Amino acid sequence: MRYFVNKTDLYHKHDLKTLGWELTVCNALFPEKSLCRTLLKSNASFGVHLFHFLERFIPLTRLKTVLEVGGGMGYLMRDFLSLAPNLQATMLDICPFLLEKQQQALAGLPVKFHELDFLHLPVVDLKPFELVILNENLGDFPTLVAHQDSTAPADPETLQWMNKVDDYEEEFSLNFAANENINIGALAIVEKLCGARIPYIYLSEHSCESSHQDPSSPCLNFMASGNPEKISLKGHDEYSVKFSHLQKIARQFQYKVIRGQYTDFLYLNLTEKVKTALRCPTPLSDEQELIQQFVYDLHKYEYMLLINNSPRKG
Ligand SMILES: C[S@@+](CC[C@H](N)C(=O)[O-])C[C@H]1O[C@@H](n2cnc3c(N)ncnc32)[C@H](O)[C@@H]1O
Repeated sequence: MRYFVNKTDLYHKHDLKTLGWELTVCNALFPEKSLCRTLLKSNASFGVHLFHFLERFIPLTRLKTVLEVGGGMGYLMRDFLSLAPNLQATMLDICPFLLEKQQQALAGLPVKFHELDFLHLPVVDLKPFELVILNENLGDFPTLVAHQDSTAPADPETLQWMNKVDDYEEEFSLNFAANENINIGALAIVEKLCGARIPYIYLSEHSCESSHQDPSSPCLNFMASGNPEKISLKGHDEYSVKFSHLQKIARQFQYKVIRGQYTDFLYLNLTEKVKTALRCPTPLSDEQELIQQFVYDLHKYEYMLLINNSPRKG
């Protein structure tokens, strides 16, 4: 099988001037009067919902340090710092435009900002952090995309990433099907975070292993493809994530893994309006289209929480 590497770093460094084109669930739930908030049982932002969910597993009000990678507009961290003022935060982002937005959103709070590609952060710099958050961005990291054009030679960067595939197969007993796209960047990230023995790691992204089967919303049902899917966005493509591979790596590092869909902490309020929109094969209004997209996202996104809070050596 041949591969090319899909990357988004140049887009994020040089071209991204708005996140509007890729409305993350976090941003969709930010405006107090957003339609998406009214679709949930409790009217709160994404960060507040997530914080109260994670609190069940992580002593958030006792931690000192948190790193958020790719924090977008900074809304999630703003919620976390208002609920846990004990936290000293670091925001690391490859995108100067978004880092500036984060500085505005987090002005006056105890936060450091760092412009860098996370893949280039030395492991030693991760050691101070007790919690690392990557929300809705794993799919931005390099993916090896399988193709069958035998005439296209692999470029040096693709070859460099392909060399890592054998290591992952051997070291973590991962198996990649012949035509499978490989979230090589996300695998490297989990290996790096677990190798640095970060006690708590939270990750989320569109998953190629989530599925949804509900007879009351037949047009929204989907099966798990099991193969990272291309998502075309403004100026770049990203890929959904195969969480079971990340899970295998984390387990090898003795992490406890908690994994599920966003519906575990964003509870849909099934009003008549929502039920009607979910029954429609084709949305009849902008509102119905937004409801369908939001509910699809709640099922398509997976989160994964990795915990290894046994004492760190050195
Ligand atoms: C889709 S946005 C998600 C933003 C935010 N976490 C949210 O949920 O709304 C992706 C974020 O990851 C950042 N990002 C993408 N590639 C990155 C990289 N290699 N290193 C650090 N940050 C990166 C982007 O600049 C952006 O802030």
